[in-house]
Amino acid sequence: MNSTKTWSGRFNEPVSELVKKYTGSIDFDKRLAQWDIQGSLAHAQMLCQAGVLSGEDLAAIERGMAEILAEIEAGRLQWLLDLEDVHMNIERRLTDKISDAGKRLHTGRSRNDQVATDIRLWLRDQISIIQTLIQSLQTALLDLAEQHAETVMPGFTHLQVAQPVSFGHHMLAYVEMLGRDYERMADCRRRVNRMPLGAAALAGTTYPVRREVTAELLGFEQICQNSLDAVSDRDFAVEFTAAASLVMIHLSRLSEELILWMSPRFGFIDIADRFCTGSSIMPQKKNPDVPELVRGKSGRVIGHLIGLITLMKSQPLAYNKDNQEDKEPLFDTADTLIDTLRIYADMMRGVSVKPENMRAAVMQGFATATDLADYLVKKGMPFRDSHEVVARAVRHADEAGVDLSQLPLAVLQGFSGLISDDVYQVLTPEGSLNARNHLGGTAPEQVRFQIARWRRLLADAQAV
Ligand code: ARG
Repeated sequence: MNSTKTWSGRFNEPVSELVKKYTGSIDFDKRLAQWDIQGSLAHAQMLCQAGVLSGEDLAAIERGMAEILAEIEAGRLQWLLDLEDVHMNIERRLTDKISDAGKRLHTGRSRNDQVATDIRLWLRDQISIIQTLIQSLQTALLDLAEQHAETVMPGFTHLQVAQPVSFGHHMLAYVEMLGRDYERMADCRRRVNRMPLGAAALAGTTYPVRREVTAELLGFEQICQNSLDAVSDRDFAVEFTAAASLVMIHLSRLSEELILWMSPRFGFIDIADRFCTGSSIMPQKKNPDVPELVRGKSGRVIGHLIGLITLMKSQPLAYNKDNQEDKEPLFDTADTLIDTLRIYADMMRGVSVKPENMRAAVMQGFATATDLADYLVKKGMPFRDSHEVVARAVRHADEAGVDLSQLPLAVLQGFSGLISDDVYQVLTPEGSLNARNHLGGTAPEQVRFQIARWRRLLADAQAV
């Protein structure tokens, strides 16, 4: 028997070239080869232990697969569209090498449980890479936060100057987001790390498979407990792209801020030249290309989430060829996220902060108005009244073109007799920061506390 297609005995004519191209997946699923072989070797070992495959056959399969892996690594294996996908290409190459033993490998297995296993093995590895990269980006942000625990910048609401915050505190907000991203990836990985193998096409198999043996060999934490669900479940793929979308959304938000802060109107930061490009026409331009692309690429990852979730909608049990469409979005999501995290950690190390400009912006926005209101409350005035008093003072200062801290004491006292010369301590941005000295607040002391906390958490995570 040397027909090209394993099922061709059933058919009167071969599929057309167009159909072959349309239904084949080898162009993109060949990147699963390493995990496909890993799964096959474990399956063969299990079959041997179960007495389904002889020791000689197993040895031949192991030898053949080692050769194939070397061929793939050397770029010498010829992938054939005639053989549709990575599974059949590898199996055919194995059979070419070791004949009958190769043909026995597919005993008690189907491509349906095989591909579901491959993709989970592959994704499990990608998630581990992503988790490490999230942590190194957190470290880069912590380093920046540490340098700027005391640096005052305007905090914004509605993109209007609101209250002074520490730039380090602002960076720590992203460390928190990435911390949740890490947790989500870890949680998603638990559901990725379950083994479909043994479900065969959909109903299980008549051979005495020992699924716990295969699972142990492959390092799966759990075994899919229902054969129909095992071959048709892609929840884990949706969960992964959802978690990846959130990472990209966080980085897109930070990118938007970096872009604004770098614009001459803000002038809060500069980004090292190696992450920017010039304009082909305007000689003066230095454009923040990397953050802009991150913002743009977040769109494609979100698109993959929508694509995958739609792919699953209305699919009857169990396997359908629709599921072949899970791969490209998954591959592109992992690739995009990994590249983005890598470049982002590097870029954050190339961010230089301009504290004078940040402070000047704080001084322009009446950022300590709330502090003055709080000051009056502490002297006995009800908050709603102090809010009104300060609003009048702000209006006056605005008309005079000065900050609240630049109003003479006599003028301030005209708004409330409760004001005395200690008021200037709370009207400076530094005073405002220091006054927010509680868990989660922006005081430099709290910023340093959080940095130490995160450094400990990251060190502990590395230790396990
Ligand atoms: N290339 C297929 C996929 O990616 C492998 C499974 C094929 N199974 C089948 N019954 N046609 O989903």
